[in-house]
Amino acid sequence: MQPRDGDEYFLDTPVVRGFVTVVRGSIAASASAEGACDAIRPAFAELLADPAWLPPQFQADAPGSGMGGGIGQWLLFRAADRSLSLFSLVVPSGSETPVHDHLAWGLVGLYRGTQDEEIFAERDGTLALAESRALRPGDFYALIPPRDDIHRVRTTSPESSISIHLLTNDTGCVWRHTFDPESGERQPFRSGYVNVACDDA
Ligand SMILES: [Fe+2]
Repeated sequence: MQPRDGDEYFLDTPVVRGFVTVVRGSIAASASAEGACDAIRPAFAELLADPAWLPPQFQADAPGSGMGGGIGQWLLFRAADRSLSLFSLVVPSGSETPVHDHLAWGLVGLYRGTQDEEIFAERDGTLALAESRALRPGDFYALIPPRDDIHRVRTTSPESSISIHLLTNDTGCVWRHTFDPESGERQPFRSGYVNVACDDA
């Protein structure tokens, strides 16, 4: 597939361009989000296993970021029509994200460090803990809302954890939600990216 005008590569390398080409081909050839995720899996696993493709500036903490806790969300690629984004999420040791949603399907995997993840299900306006899991580098999953869409992650390694997200929206700039895990109350939330401003920010 040809690159499209207006695509933004904040990390412009053959590895990222090749990955995006595979992703677009997989989406075009698949009848469902599940099918597309299955088709993308080998390329995503390869990205998580490659120690060399992600420069240090995209693995850095970000004091004062929109996520809080020094958490950095670094945009690597964004499609012209904002239907696809690839970003790294850096969570310092001992920090955790708020409980949040994503509002789009895609793949999420751990690149460095370790995380504990808690996944919540929304039932009648309240949140119930649906699953807890420990993630190691190379672990990844398909996120297909509403399944797995509401979660929080906490870094359990002495070094920051870095996860790679491929999602079918402009995750850092769309308005989504954080949740109070006790009451289930939701608040509008826009995380932003450390390295790219949102249009109307
Ligand atoms: Fe998340």
